[in-house]
Amino acid sequence: MGITIKHAGKAVPKLVVKNEDLNKFVDTDNEWIVARTGITERRIATSESGLDLAVDAAKIALEGENYEEIGLVIVATVTPDKLVPSMGAMVKRELNLPNAIAFDINTACSGFIYAIWIAEALMKNGMVNKVNGVHTNTINKALIIGVERLSRIVNWTDRGTCILFGDGAGAAVLENNPKEKGILASFVKNYDDTTDSLTCGMEFLKTPFTDEDLDNPEQQTLSMQGSQVFKFAVNAIGEVMERSLELAGLTADDIAYYVPHQANLRIISSAAKKFKQPIEKFQISLNETGNVSAASVPMALYDIMNTAKIKKGDKIMLVGFGGGLSAGAVIFEV
Ligand code: UT7
Repeated sequence: MGITIKHAGKAVPKLVVKNEDLNKFVDTDNEWIVARTGITERRIATSESGLDLAVDAAKIALEGENYEEIGLVIVATVTPDKLVPSMGAMVKRELNLPNAIAFDINTACSGFIYAIWIAEALMKNGMVNKVNGVHTNTINKALIIGVERLSRIVNWTDRGTCILFGDGAGAAVLENNPKEKGILASFVKNYDDTTDSLTCGMEFLKTPFTDEDLDNPEQQTLSMQGSQVFKFAVNAIGEVMERSLELAGLTADDIAYYVPHQANLRIISSAAKKFKQPIEKFQISLNETGNVSAASVPMALYDIMNTAKIKKGDKIMLVGFGGGLSAGAVIFEV
C-alpha cells in the first residue's frame, strides 16, 4: 500500500516585483540580492486573496479528479486570509468538496512537509469518522496546499527581510494506491527557537483590563536574525535529509531530484555539497519566486513535475525548514 503524490498545482499573483524595484523602499541593490540569495524577482499579491491563489493551485492539482473522493484538505500557511474560518474550510466550500475534513496548520516554511506527514498518517491508518457507528469518511485522497501572502507581514522598511519573500500557492493531491510505492519515508523535527530568531507577532486589541502597550507595529511584522537562521537551516536541512534517507533505506545517490524549501540558493548549494550531489538535481525556483514560506515546496514541486525530466519510478525528496524552528523531509517514488 502506498500513499502517492499524484499531481501538483501552482498559482502566483500577476505582479512581478524585480530586485531593482525594491530600491524605491530600501537601500539595496540587485547584485547584493542575487549574490547573497539567488533571488531576482518575486510575485506580490495585489488583487488576489490567499483563497484565490489556493483555489487556483488546487484546481490544477485536482484536474481529472472526482471532487467527491477528496476526504481531507490541509492548508499550510502563516498568512491565512482570516483567523476564522480556516483557509481549509474556505477552500472546501469554494471548491465544493462535500466529503472533505478541512483544517489549517502552521509550521512556517516546513508547513507543506508537516501537512504531508499528517495526511500520510491519517490515510495509512485508515482513519475514519464514525457517526452512530456508520463510517462517514475514509480518506483515500487528500488535497494538500501551501499558500502565503507574506507581503502583508513583511516590514517594507527592513532590507534584511523584505527582499526575501513573495506570495503564491502550491498544491498536491495524495492518493492511497495499493499498486504504487508512493511515500517511502517522512520525517519531521522541531528545534526550540531559544533566541526568537524568526518571529512575527499579530495585531491584538487592548482589553480594558491591562495597560500593556500593543501599539508597536514592528511586533506585527516578520523579524529574522538572518545569519542565525542561515546556520540553523544549513544544519537542519542536513539532518532531515539524512534521517529520511535512513528511514527509506536509501543513499543520496538514489534520489533523482531534490525539491528543497526555496529560502536561499546558498543553503541549497550547501546541502548539495554535503551530500556530494550535483546542484542540477535540486529544483531551483527561488530566482523567480523568492521565499514563499509554506508555498515554496509545493510551488517548486509543480515546477519539477511539469518538466520532462521526471520518469516513472524516480525517487524525489521534498525538504523544508523554517520558523518554530521546524524542519522535515519526505521521500516518494513517482
Ligand atoms: O524561510 C525560513 C528560513 N529562512 C532562511 O533560511 C533565511 C536564512 N538567512 C539568509 O538567507 C541570509 O542570512 C540573508 C540572505 C537573510 C542575509 O544574508 P547574510 O549573508 O547572512 O547577510 P547579513 O545579514 O550578515 O548582512 C551582511 C551585510 C550587512 O552589512 P554590514 O553590517 O556588513 O555592513 C547588512 O546590513 O549585508 C547588509 N545587507 C544588505 N545589503 C544590501 C543586508 N540586507 C541587505 C540588502 N541589500 N537587502
